[in-house]
Amino acid sequence: MSVDSVLTAPAALAGPLTLVHAADDTPGWWRSAVIYQVYPRSFRDLNGDGVGDLAGITAELPQLAELEIDAVWLSPFYRSPQRDAGYDVSDYCDVDPLFGTLADFDAMMAEANRLGLRLIVDLVPNHCSDQHAAFQAALAAPAGSPERDMFIFRDGRGDSGEQPPNNWQSHFGGPAWTRITEPDGTPGQWYLHLFDTSQPDFNWDNDAVHAEFERVLRFWLDRGVSGFRVDVAHALVKAPGLPEWGGRADGNSSHGFPGHEAPMFGQPALHDIYRTWRRILAEYGPDRILCAEANVDPLPRLADWVRPDEMHQAFNFPYLHAGLDVHRMRHVITESLTALDAVGAPSTWVLSNHDVVRHATRFGYNGPAPRDGDGIGPADVQPDEALGRSRAAAASMFMLGLPGGAYLYQGEELGLPDGIDIPDSQRQDPTFGRTGGERLGRDGCRVPLPWRSGEPHAGFGAGADPWLPQPASFAGLARDAQAASPSSHLNLYRRMLALRRELSLGQGSLTWLENWCTDTSLAYLNGTTAVLLNVGPEPLELPAGQVLLRSFVSAEQGEDAHRLSSGETVWLEIYIEDTES
Ligand code: NOJ
Repeated sequence: MSVDSVLTAPAALAGPLTLVHAADDTPGWWRSAVIYQVYPRSFRDLNGDGVGDLAGITAELPQLAELEIDAVWLSPFYRSPQRDAGYDVSDYCDVDPLFGTLADFDAMMAEANRLGLRLIVDLVPNHCSDQHAAFQAALAAPAGSPERDMFIFRDGRGDSGEQPPNNWQSHFGGPAWTRITEPDGTPGQWYLHLFDTSQPDFNWDNDAVHAEFERVLRFWLDRGVSGFRVDVAHALVKAPGLPEWGGRADGNSSHGFPGHEAPMFGQPALHDIYRTWRRILAEYGPDRILCAEANVDPLPRLADWVRPDEMHQAFNFPYLHAGLDVHRMRHVITESLTALDAVGAPSTWVLSNHDVVRHATRFGYNGPAPRDGDGIGPADVQPDEALGRSRAAAASMFMLGLPGGAYLYQGEELGLPDGIDIPDSQRQDPTFGRTGGERLGRDGCRVPLPWRSGEPHAGFGAGADPWLPQPASFAGLARDAQAASPSSHLNLYRRMLALRRELSLGQGSLTWLENWCTDTSLAYLNGTTAVLLNVGPEPLELPAGQVLLRSFVSAEQGEDAHRLSSGETVWLEIYIEDTES
């Protein structure tokens, strides 16, 4: 290969080429990894209680390994009263009986090792459950005690302390403060909870909190995990004095979504915490990673989280929120690669997770998608399921051609839609209760997976009804049915992920193909693979090159073979002429 290689792109691809990311040959498996999120309570129910379990995950891991993913990230399975589906932890070093035992965890780890899959677990350091022993001790101890200092307790305002200490609101609706009754029965102090009342925030100004989480990190590293996804990683430290905040609970202000202006986010002292954690991980070898769930904008600020001595990755939520708006997509991709390259970090890409409406449902609308956490109910405008699924395939193919790492959410490989017909009485997300039903919450994207079409509950579990009802369409979308159908969503994902690995797309570079970057199409070159997306109403003539894969499997033959349909992505091998050969 010569440095003088020139691209002799066919006419339709010719034009100025804008390189925004040089090929990445730095070692580090995570830099190009595909990491698959397992949401344990909805993955596979082996003991028949209606809720997924660790044994169920172990049983199905071979099916995930087939997808050629690199790692599995598990949402929380720790001891928890499950008020926020496990993000309310009462014991960080044990498995909730709902999901199994530590022995089940070890069996799952062993099976993952056997299959060559890494396991990443979720760390929830901003808050715990109100049933955690440390919080119970704080309630029993007097104001000003070391036990209270593990959390953020303050006296209330007003003559008798009857008003909350400041105006902060909970992410799930309502005030972010709850007043306690002191052990002597009198109305007492208030504690901060950025999420549900049952999730008191830790006080990260207290060294004892640091020591406790360092112990937790080592506990799971000793059991063999490859790293941690860090929950609300931007929230741990609060601004001194807890100043009032006029913007939204999620950090949105009238200026957009800065995520660094809000006094509960992005405080400078956070970064030393992650430097310390990185040093702890390094004691276990160079391959253990930290991934920040840090919903911060603008993107250059996100780069602060992945500087060489801090975290390894951060979720790219601006990409998730760009939808299929080609201008926003291009802007976010360019900005991500530029900003993260500047600190030597790879970007990650993501379209779905357990907090947002699945992308197969979001793309079933032509108008704006519902706000995160709002969900969709039977009374709302309904998505077009088939349209959503085919656009989701195109969006995933566009994403998986990008250099960097990618996160997949369980069931997206099946093209699953959100559950919409969930009776109010079965909704479990605290958002629903705390907003009086005004925001439906995130249950729709958490519906249990369909595995086997002919079995009860589409093979999720043979016993009790699943903890959330499955849509009728799930039986037809079950993994076994899709495995048998060459044109299924699942088989597209299999081909896509295998080809991504074969072509080393994750380690590649991105060059915008300007002639294809229009108001309704977007295209880039990664190595010799051109990735072209058409979001316009009309089909577009495909440029010359060898079609490697297209998101409309049915378009591989027939009259559409030379055209890129509306809502379709193609991976095309184009020719690079080596001037020295
Ligand atoms: C982010 C998690 O992804 C979400 O599910 C959870 O409710 C909040 N953090 C609070 O832990």
